[in-house]
Amino acid sequence: MSKVGGKAFDFKLFLKVLGYAKPYQRLFTFSMILTVLLGALGTARPILIRQVIDDAILGYDAPMLLKLTFMLVGLLVIESIGQFGFMYAANWLGQSIIKDIRVELYDKLQTFRLQFYDKTPIGQLVTRVVSDIETISQIFSQGILVIFGDLFRILVMLGAMFFFFHPILVLVSLSIIPVLFIATRWFQRGIKGAFQRVRNEVSNLNTFVQEHLGGMSIVQAFGREEQEFDKFKTINDRHRNANVESIFYYALFFPIIEVLSAISIGLAVWYGGMNAAVGGSVTVGELTAMIIFIGMLFRPLRQLADRFNTLQMGMVASERVLNLLDSNHEVEPNGDIRLGKLEGDIVFDQVYFHYKENEPILKEVSFSVAPGETVAIVGATGAGKSTIISVLMGFYPYTKGSVQIDGNELTSLDLHTLRQQMALVLQDVFLFSDTVRSNIVLGNQHITDIEIMQAANDIGIEEFIDGLPQGLDYNVQERGGVLSAGQRQLLAFLRAYITDPQVLILDEATSSIDSHTEELIQRALIALTQDRTSVIIAHRLSTIQHADKIVVLDKGVVVETGGHQALLKSKGAYYRLYEKQFAAEV
Ligand SMILES: Nc1ncnc2c1ncn2[C@@H]1O[C@H](COP(=O)(O)OP(=O)(O)O)[C@@H](O)[C@H]1O
Ligand SMILES: [Mg+2]
Repeated sequence: MSKVGGKAFDFKLFLKVLGYAKPYQRLFTFSMILTVLLGALGTARPILIRQVIDDAILGYDAPMLLKLTFMLVGLLVIESIGQFGFMYAANWLGQSIIKDIRVELYDKLQTFRLQFYDKTPIGQLVTRVVSDIETISQIFSQGILVIFGDLFRILVMLGAMFFFFHPILVLVSLSIIPVLFIATRWFQRGIKGAFQRVRNEVSNLNTFVQEHLGGMSIVQAFGREEQEFDKFKTINDRHRNANVESIFYYALFFPIIEVLSAISIGLAVWYGGMNAAVGGSVTVGELTAMIIFIGMLFRPLRQLADRFNTLQMGMVASERVLNLLDSNHEVEPNGDIRLGKLEGDIVFDQVYFHYKENEPILKEVSFSVAPGETVAIVGATGAGKSTIISVLMGFYPYTKGSVQIDGNELTSLDLHTLRQQMALVLQDVFLFSDTVRSNIVLGNQHITDIEIMQAANDIGIEEFIDGLPQGLDYNVQERGGVLSAGQRQLLAFLRAYITDPQVLILDEATSSIDSHTEELIQRALIALTQDRTSVIIAHRLSTIQHADKIVVLDKGVVVETGGHQALLKSKGAYYRLYEKQFAAEV
């Protein structure tokens, strides 16, 4: 069996996790005191039973028997109430802490730059935010507090045994304990590796399901159901195997402990009986109490291994989550200049960019857009057009050159305030599974339905909105699945228009759109670009013809810039592109 994560307990990490309990200090202390009290109370029971047998029953003392019985019952009641209080408090604590961590993590994820999301499977992140954090709560609900309580209880019990009972009886009975420790170590090691594998497989399952349900149309369109199903079954097999492996350890460990505890009781009976038989000092009450103690001692000892694992698992999860919280290099770099109202003057000056080292995507890209102007970027697929937009939005950092907005270097600007004045319409419009209204206003409660309809009227799509089954209340389902690509684009236009941005950035949809929607889009586009700086990745001749300037991109290099007519006349790259793509349209 491979040894996974063989490193010792990470105390620094542990303290860091404990730090999250700080706001709940009182509750934490309360739980701690409660668990200590419970440990002490539990120990009193066998001692009382010894007294019941030796003094009350064997001493024929009826009043004492009654008194002791009441005490025992009272003790049990108090213990039960304490147990309830402890369980409630410890879980309240655990849940409160993970609520805090989850909020912090989600907030952090919102600040990560897109590069991070390019390379991190979403399913893995979902696992972090949902189930890993759940595991952290167990550190508090089933981990440290209980471990502390159990250890304390064991110590008190051992002390009480030696104090009240015949020391040799105690020693002989407990002589089996070293074997117990060896068994526990074996169990703990094995189960830890198994649990880690379980967690990995859960993450794999999440990633797979997430991706394949999201991409179901591709799976079905290409008839890949069988193959993907086989992959899924393989992952599921591994998941089962990992779980079964962990069960193997439990299934073996618990009977072993039972046997050990039986041996321990046997030893107690043997020595105690022998001692009593030869007239020694071990009493019947003492022997009975000892047997009860052994049972009480083995229970926490048996659980301790499990608890340490819970703690370990919580620590593994904490490490993953805290690593994510600490990964500041993933946070979007941000300047601190907050621009007032934008002019909308954009300059790209010899900009270089790459996603991966040594694979330049943009090379020496230069162009400028004057305030109010519309610039169309054209070029073949993969030329780097969308990348220009990503760079302009500050999603990805450029490596060389300069991008300026109103004369300020992009990297020195506060992106949040900048983006508030820019509107982005992507090729593949992303809609949330919500109403048309929510998708248009994106959380801005101040925009009224009247304003939405006015805006729709402005860009000429009022009829389209009215024509939706429930108008603004229409739920577009996940990713806008019930709308066509063209319709989604219209909604995205409205979403952009309603924020009245100073700069409009648009990656035109390439998919073919029916002529009616096409017409709507063209009209909307004219309204949309009116009086604002616009950068449009254009795929339609009509859009290009309306532009003030055309930038022709080829393999990451700007090969031509100019007006439609002038570029056609010079018979260069634009002319060839035009011949290939648009001549048929005219
Ligand atoms: N997130 C990304 N990570 C790595 N490479 C990318 C990423 N996005 C695009 N690319 C690559 O950059 C090049 C330009 O892509 P893109 O700007 O989308 O082209 P266009 O929009 O002109 O079709 C392509 O070769 C593409 O594979
Ligand atoms: Mg593109």
